[in-house]
Amino acid sequence: MAYAVEVKNIVKKFPSVTAVDDVSFNVDEGEIFGLLGPNGAGKTTLNRMLTCLIKPTSGQANIRGLDVVKYPVRVRRNIGVVSQAMTSDLDLTAWENLDIYGKYFDIPKTRRHETIKYLLETVGLANRAQELVATYSGGMRRRLEIARGLIHKPYILFLDEPTTGLDPQSRRVIWDLLNKIRKETKLTIFITTHYMDEADFLCDRIAIVDYGKIVVLDSPSNLKRSIGGFDIIEMLLSNYTPEVEASLKAMQFVKNITKKDEYTRVYVTDAAKAMPVIIEDIKKMHGSIDYLAIQKQSLEDVFIHYTGKTIREAEAQKTNFILGAGAPRQFPGGRL
Ligand SMILES: Nc1ncnc2c1ncn2[C@@H]1O[C@H](COP(=O)(O)OP(=O)(O)OP(=O)(O)O)[C@@H](O)[C@H]1O
Ligand SMILES: [Mg+2]
Repeated sequence: MAYAVEVKNIVKKFPSVTAVDDVSFNVDEGEIFGLLGPNGAGKTTLNRMLTCLIKPTSGQANIRGLDVVKYPVRVRRNIGVVSQAMTSDLDLTAWENLDIYGKYFDIPKTRRHETIKYLLETVGLANRAQELVATYSGGMRRRLEIARGLIHKPYILFLDEPTTGLDPQSRRVIWDLLNKIRKETKLTIFITTHYMDEADFLCDRIAIVDYGKIVVLDSPSNLKRSIGGFDIIEMLLSNYTPEVEASLKAMQFVKNITKKDEYTRVYVTDAAKAMPVIIEDIKKMHGSIDYLAIQKQSLEDVFIHYTGKTIREAEAQKTNFILGAGAPRQFPGGRL
């Protein structure tokens, strides 16, 4: 079976910069795959090549086995696209926005209307369907655009920085929505982001990109493991006997235990998995936990490890004239 996305030595050169520089990777069907990188790393450019908006300078990309340069029409039938800039029409209602797209894909009326109804419900906009998009919040508009990307039931959904500029609550709603859609439809999702927490929460695998190149590619937990750190569970325990300590130490995922002041710090491979087991064990041995905090190894640490800088520093280093969807534009009068 062909990969959902297959990229071989792809390059995109612009006159002043090589935006994507010899990138290769595969995305499995049903996977949520993330490109994580700072401003100007080449995420949108790669995305545009995979969605047939621009042609690679060299190299190849296939979508479900179809070459994006040779078969753009067939590729477009297989993919949904949510671009970095919001592009839903403000002067139309949500329903009308979706209906136009459905017509564009030649979906017959009855099926089109059924799908629109289903999608508006899925993204939580059914009760606002007849209102102009101009009255929507940023998060609602994004959800509408995700619905629009799914109107023709694509196999792969491409999202370019879907939550940039949204408040934390709206971001969370979008994440839950993407997870839900993936579960219900077995959709493959290709997402670009510069948010570590977004990549960590959503993605099965992440490629960290910087200056047009993939620096490292793996699952979030493998990436964290690869830099040799651990999550730390810090606890204040009463009744912390040598038996409790021995029992904790015997657990496979416990890598070390240290004491600082009256606090016990347990180093584990994955705090989310370890915590319930540890709590249960301590209870069983009649210990009690008076305080508990988790220090999680983050992708930020991974990014620093592989690029030598924080993502903020990486962004500051790049001269960023990018407006909207990522292409530099000239202001009237010739000044940038
Ligand atoms: N049409 C274009 N013409 C010339 N240079 C371009 C064009 N599009 C992108 N670039 C340049 O290619 C590089 C990568 O840009 P791209 O938009 O792909 O980055 P990005 O990772 O999506 O960044 P952001 O997080 O800001 O969206 C940048 O240096 C950018 O200025
Ligand atoms: Mg971009």
